[in-house]
Amino acid sequence: MKKPLTAVIVGAGHRALGYAAYALSHPDELQIVGVADPLPRRRQKVRELYRFSEDSCFETAEALAQKPKFADFIINGTMDQQHVPTTLPLLEAGYHILLEKPFATNLDEMQLLVDKAKTCGRKISICHVLRYTPFYTAIRQKVAEGTIGDIINVQALEHVSYHHMAVGFVRGKWNKKSYSGSSMLMAKSCHDLDLITWMKSGINPSSVASFGSNLQFRPEKAPKDHGTRCLVDCPIESDCLYSARKHYIDHPDRWAFYSWDSIEHIENPTIKDKIASLKSDNPYGRCVWTCDNDVVDHQSVVINFADGSTATLNMIGGSAKPQRAIHLIGTKGEIEGRFEDSKFVIRHIDPRPGHEYSEETIDLNVEGDMTGAFGGHGGGDLRLVRDFLQILRGETPSISSTPIEDSVNGHRIGFSADHSMEESRVIEILPQ
Ligand SMILES: NC(=O)c1ccc[n+]([C@@H]2O[C@H](COP(=O)([O-])OP(=O)(O)OC[C@H]3O[C@@H](n4cnc5c(N)ncnc54)[C@H](O)[C@@H]3O)[C@@H](O)[C@H]2O)c1
Repeated sequence: MKKPLTAVIVGAGHRALGYAAYALSHPDELQIVGVADPLPRRRQKVRELYRFSEDSCFETAEALAQKPKFADFIINGTMDQQHVPTTLPLLEAGYHILLEKPFATNLDEMQLLVDKAKTCGRKISICHVLRYTPFYTAIRQKVAEGTIGDIINVQALEHVSYHHMAVGFVRGKWNKKSYSGSSMLMAKSCHDLDLITWMKSGINPSSVASFGSNLQFRPEKAPKDHGTRCLVDCPIESDCLYSARKHYIDHPDRWAFYSWDSIEHIENPTIKDKIASLKSDNPYGRCVWTCDNDVVDHQSVVINFADGSTATLNMIGGSAKPQRAIHLIGTKGEIEGRFEDSKFVIRHIDPRPGHEYSEETIDLNVEGDMTGAFGGHGGGDLRLVRDFLQILRGETPSISSTPIEDSVNGHRIGFSADHSMEESRVIEILPQ
């Protein structure tokens, strides 16, 4: 029987705990043996769940890195701006890293990380979880098999629902680049940029143009007579689409890991506790039109690749329905699908008399998987962990896992798109 691999959680927030849960369902493959997090209650929660000693608890990644290595790898679920600073010393300490996205906040940082992983001879897998979903994996497989020929164009879209937009990018942790280090494009749609470049694997992007703005969530767009906190001073709360009561009390579990962060010290908060929190200093109780957000609410990106092919990504926050879709057009056919449907269509050019094209539907039939056995993101979260364990055991992982050098192009496009948008010009991307 193979020995389980061991991991230390760095940044015991909701993402890292989600990946670590693989150890609960597959104890023969993975054991969690330590934690690093400045918050004592988060350290304690992890220690109690995975039953290791106090000696294996650390206040920071940096403190952990100073101790002799005692696990195979790190699950790094710190916030965006901490990914590189926390990972560098851990690579030096000898750990492999499962690292959340976006894995860097700018080009220089990203290069530093890639170079360090190389010189230390360590493996880093990026939590681009959508690659690991049956939907995107099957599309990539078809592309790699040449089913639609050479890709001429990729159209990707991400519609970020009104409640996701408000919780993440207006009231929440990714509402200011000066705090999280990430633009909305990088925080939210670096997945989609990664998917585009993964579909175009081996071909470098050569230039990028982008437009976007914060159209809606600004003081001058606020409805007449609005307040500053929904449950304190807002006379129009009952009519408002963005009422904190409607988003976080009427749907108490939907964004619980964000909206109730500030009352985490209360074991099982009641509705009364939650309302009191939204009325006091909880950031999720603020009016969406008078927050301190400085990121866009929609952005469009146009990409030119070195082989002359092109791609677009439209990220739109504030939609009624959340949606991700991709449409690839190749020299022999096309693939079109919506992630939420877990199925896509392949069309082939058919020049025969009386025909135009043929069509086949690939139904992955994994709808129950969206939050089921393989975790969130359509099953991508835990499949990613499974793949990383395979890599560390020297086994062949799925098509979804590629070296970190292959995750770089999506981030290069994202950083360049933000420059393009800010400076209103096309940004050339130099070959790697
Ligand atoms: N892959 C995805 O689809 C996906 C989805 C959502 C979020 N994310 C990313 O996951 C990351 C984590 O998000 P989250 O909401 O779980 O964050 P979180 O804020 O809940 O957790 C981060 C944790 O890091 C700890 N921390 C801070 N400094 C530290 C240090 N020096 N050493 C060790 N720990 C430290 C914090 O105390 C906190 O507990 C973010 O980068 C986010 O962008 C990825």
